[in-house]
Amino acid sequence: MIATSIESRRSAPLKGVGHVRRVDSGGDRGRVVDTAPRRRPAPTAPPRPGVPPASRFPRLLAGVDEPTGPVDLPHHLELWGPLDFHRARAGLVDELDASGLAGHGGAWFPVAAKWRSVGAGSRRRPVVVANGTEGEPASAKDGFLLEWAPHLVIDGASAAAAALGAGRVILCVPPRLVAGVSREVVARDGLRMDPVGIEVVPAVEAFVAGQESAVVNALEGRAPVPSFVRIKPVRESGVGGRPTLVQNVETLAHVGLVARFGAGWFRGLGTARDPGTTMLTLHDGRGVPQVFEMPLGVAMRQVLGLSSAATADYQAALVGGYGGGWVSMATLLDLELSEGAARRVGAGLGPGVVALLPRDACPVAEVARVVRYMEGQSAGQCGPCVLGLAALAHALESLAFDARPPRGLLDRVGQLCDLVEGRGACRHPDGVARFARSALGVFGDDMAGHAQSGPCDRVGSRPVLPLPVPAVMPPPGHNGHRDRPGRALREVARR
Ligand SMILES: Cc1cc2nc3c(=O)[nH]c(=O)nc-3n(C[C@H](O)[C@H](O)[C@H](O)COP(=O)(O)O)c2cc1C
Ligand code: SF4
Repeated sequence: MIATSIESRRSAPLKGVGHVRRVDSGGDRGRVVDTAPRRRPAPTAPPRPGVPPASRFPRLLAGVDEPTGPVDLPHHLELWGPLDFHRARAGLVDELDASGLAGHGGAWFPVAAKWRSVGAGSRRRPVVVANGTEGEPASAKDGFLLEWAPHLVIDGASAAAAALGAGRVILCVPPRLVAGVSREVVARDGLRMDPVGIEVVPAVEAFVAGQESAVVNALEGRAPVPSFVRIKPVRESGVGGRPTLVQNVETLAHVGLVARFGAGWFRGLGTARDPGTTMLTLHDGRGVPQVFEMPLGVAMRQVLGLSSAATADYQAALVGGYGGGWVSMATLLDLELSEGAARRVGAGLGPGVVALLPRDACPVAEVARVVRYMEGQSAGQCGPCVLGLAALAHALESLAFDARPPRGLLDRVGQLCDLVEGRGACRHPDGVARFARSALGVFGDDMAGHAQSGPCDRVGSRPVLPLPVPAVMPPPGHNGHRDRPGRALREVARR
């Protein structure tokens, strides 16, 4: 019933702007289900198309919506032409600076600044790592890109290797995509396209395993957890002790275009402050995530194809995934698609996740479920993260499910958020704190209702926010952990 009303209120995908694709849900993320794959015949000679108009859209997903299957090498060369890695070697970092490209893995750090810091003062040849881990359970865009348009990612990684003088390129991809991406790498080898050899390795599938030092640790055969802050950053000492650039796969795909067509072309979409496009994963409560590409700076109501009436269907939206923040529907619809705008409303674009919470879901139970999952994903090595997230998860579960939650629980949730923030070796606890704190603001009435009168009548409804494995949740009325949040809170506070 909800799906029908949502359907009627969403406008059709915006042709030439939206580029909506459906992907599987249920853990096997990123597979197109509305396309019948069919191989294109290989052209006899690689075509050399001219420079496409800067306004041509979509960019990263160009060719993906044709009923031809993934963009293989002949199709890729037909769309974009070959990439001149000699040119990349000469001036790509300056070009990236002028392009304003920022990282799309979650932190939106300027790409040129990062490249300049890799191996600064070192004479050792760096290593380039394409981070396709996509540990965020609600994100599907990186896997989608690697499956449907892998060559732009590989172009970007090779361009980085050329520009930085790297001796190795490693693509970390979800295990299910290793075979497909390897096949495309072999096709490139046949044309001797890439300046250095490319290795394809399976990424570790866990939330914190995508953090850059965790990726390097996994590649080095160590536990796939973030390194402590006192350890040298990977840009100084990463894979094999060499300076290492870890860059998100979507970021590298944008690099592949900047390296071809330059900064001015890249700025042909988006705004002066937020140039280019970004990929997004949308969850609209129907269980089937959708992957989009959109120009930055566009209003969210246009991005999502939602009218003001959508506020009748949805309670609120999660922007930026499980390290992002909740916003009201009214805020969402007026929000501009950019990291800066999302931060100003207490969220963040993160890896480009937007999840709409339908009216019949219990927000307190949803928040408790996700925080419990995130607590389980802690690498278990920093006390405030381990104890603080456990305490936060207990407190939220008590709030969601206990018939008579302990008094002062809402305040305690806020205090725990303050206590874990900035206290870990990585930003995992900071993300959880932002997620939970924003929930206190946006779902204040629901939280207060649970605190006063116990679970609402929506508490048993079907979970909406996607998690890799169903979290084991206490039954309604459970109170077994009632004293633990307080105890753990005291332990955290002592540290
Ligand atoms: C807990 C945690 C998990 C992360 N997971 C991912 C991930 O799955 N994929 C990713 O590209 N970046 C992830 N990151 C960010 C990486 O540490 C790193 O900043 C990023 O890969 C750099 O690429 P970018 O600058 O192109 O975004 C994560 C960061 C944290 C703190
Ligand atoms: S803050 Fe948490 S997730 Fe990050 S390294 Fe420490 S224990 Fe692991």
